Amino acid sequence: MTSSTMIYPDATTVAETTAARLLVSIADALSARGEAHIVLTGGTIGVATLARMAASPLSDVIDWRGVHIWWGDERFLPPGDHDRNEVQAQRSLLKRVRLPEENIHRMASSEGATSPEKVAQAYAAELARFGDPAPAFDVLLLGLGPDGHVASLFPGRPEMKVVATSVVAVKDSPKPPPTRLSMTLPTINGAKEVWILTAGAEKARAVADALAHKSGIPGGMVHGTDRTLWLIDKAAAASI
Ligand code: 6PG
Repeated sequence: MTSSTMIYPDATTVAETTAARLLVSIADALSARGEAHIVLTGGTIGVATLARMAASPLSDVIDWRGVHIWWGDERFLPPGDHDRNEVQAQRSLLKRVRLPEENIHRMASSEGATSPEKVAQAYAAELARFGDPAPAFDVLLLGLGPDGHVASLFPGRPEMKVVATSVVAVKDSPKPPPTRLSMTLPTINGAKEVWILTAGAEKARAVADALAHKSGIPGGMVHGTDRTLWLIDKAAAASI
């Protein structure tokens, strides 16, 4: 497993280069196996990356019929709520590419759901349709919070220690909205490649702590089976 950190001048360049990298990675997976499983993230850079993918001519040469889209976490909100990661992904990229609807694996909304726990169980079952316990994701994207959280796994929270299930409900999240769903660390770390995307001076401490594998920092506990890639800007790299 290799790990590398790429430092770019600013957030726009992080999103632009991540978009190009991801499109090439999708094309490579499709040519090797005819399918690609990609896990998206919420957050500023994660969503900006999707918009740059939609704007890239490279997206026009991808046969999206073989691409499966998943989410590492989701906000437990009504359908169509702009704060839902899948809604932002739909508006930024998914409505602009010819992805079969059955290949877009959304975490359920709060509408009609009996509980976030039931939604977590349902998503775990969906993941298990494609692997045990999940498909070997080709690329799994993560943002990084100022406290070092990734997906909806926050420092010191019990969800950090969950290993028996692939998806967990998160309540009283330190980052609003309070109720969320998140892939667990073992599921994240089952991905072939884990890419952590972040930018801005407010993330510099978290980046430095994660890269130093400071105890209890979720960003320092994620890695791909083949590759871990940090894609950050100069401001976020200031404390490395
Ligand atoms: C979420 C994200 C979360 C996000 C980080 C970074 O649903 O909120 O998955 O993990 O990626 O909080 O977000 P920003 O880049 O907006 O700070």
